[in-house]
Amino acid sequence: MTTPIPQRTQVAIIGAGPSGLLLGQLLHKAGIDAVILERQTGDYVLSRIRAGVLEQVCIDLMDEAGVGQRMHQEGLVHGGFEMLYGGARHRIDMNKLTGGKNVMVYGQTELTRDLMDARQAVGLPTVYEAKDVAIHDFGSAKPRVTYSKDGVEHTLECDFIAGCDGFHGVCRASVPRAAIREFEKVYPFGWLGLLSDTPPVSDELIYVNSPRGFALCSQRSKTRSRYYLQVPLTDRIEEWTDEAFWQELRLRLDEEGREKLITGPSLEKSIAPLRSFVTEPLRFGRLFLAGDAGHIVPPTGAKGLNLAATDVKYLSSAIIEFYQERSEAGIDGYSARCLRRIWKAERFSWWFTQLMHRFPEDGPISAKFQEAELDYLLNSEAGSRSIAENYVGLPLNFGE
Ligand code: APR
Ligand code: PHB
Repeated sequence: MTTPIPQRTQVAIIGAGPSGLLLGQLLHKAGIDAVILERQTGDYVLSRIRAGVLEQVCIDLMDEAGVGQRMHQEGLVHGGFEMLYGGARHRIDMNKLTGGKNVMVYGQTELTRDLMDARQAVGLPTVYEAKDVAIHDFGSAKPRVTYSKDGVEHTLECDFIAGCDGFHGVCRASVPRAAIREFEKVYPFGWLGLLSDTPPVSDELIYVNSPRGFALCSQRSKTRSRYYLQVPLTDRIEEWTDEAFWQELRLRLDEEGREKLITGPSLEKSIAPLRSFVTEPLRFGRLFLAGDAGHIVPPTGAKGLNLAATDVKYLSSAIIEFYQERSEAGIDGYSARCLRRIWKAERFSWWFTQLMHRFPEDGPISAKFQEAELDYLLNSEAGSRSIAENYVGLPLNFGE
């Protein structure tokens, strides 16, 4: 028996990525109805390989949403990471430098699966393969969403629309151009990622700045690794064999890394462009943008998922306040509150990207500036602390 699709809800959520699913769960905990409309199938959503480093605020939100159990069992707590530069490794002892904070390595795919399972377990409505989603009248108190499912047209009436539909979604694109400002920087290279069922080369992540370009040694578990290489945007994925990937990674690592690296067949391989992007504002009447729909960071600082989670925290609090206290203060402040946090994570991600990648088009002086900056940062407690403090994530109430 299929559950009938509701025609009215309090919050229509567009997109069943981490933002939409987490928002749905937090609203459900507060007794607020939501329907999620997702263009793809659930399996497709789970097949996308994304990052996997959770800040404490993201861990806390998964707990608050009641879906943190498997994350605590399987996630790996990391108190530091390494930076490899000029052939030498330097450890950023995050835990010590931040007075006891850590991050957790837990794949976005797993987090998404936990949220999907929790939603399904209590029978909350998600419409997968919702086609031609269009949002209407969000300037009024009676917004609507129209879409088709299996060839049948539907209308969903609601109080609010949450645009959690990622960078290529319909929500941001539906806002009149004169009402929105977009800030963007596209980087002149991409990340070639490879996932393999091989033990990670090291217990902790290694961020590498080598003369051949950036590399990152990351992981999903004790038996699954995720590696990345900076590559020109003109490279095509079909041209990168697994063997060529491993060979290039070896050349960017140090002696110890080369010795310890265990290679194997790739489970997934893809090239992603790097972009910094922010939309202002994030609220348009009864429409709110959250997560990748409103902003993109280059992955170097592992901030994408964490920023999405904090947008959702602010948005769920604002909507709960609206229904429970009849107050619009939260929804009025949503955009400014999010943007203040977003810009700091944007700045860190941009800066860390500049520091760790090679920019040959900027001439030899750019490598010299990097050399001096890394030499300063990694030998200065204040410099290393600044990296650590941003990497573990600034507190939710930072600067308030
Ligand atoms: N109609 C319905 N659903 C849509 C539409 C549409 N027109 N357009 C996009 N979607 C869906 C996508 O299929 C996707 O499942 O919205 C979802 C958006 O999910 P994400 O792109 O994962 O974005 P978000 O949930 O904000 O998660 C942010 O993902 O890209 C990473 O680094 C980012 O980790 C961060 C996280
Ligand atoms: C990942 O594991 O995919 C990952 C980790 C850290 C990053 C980016 C990606 O900075």
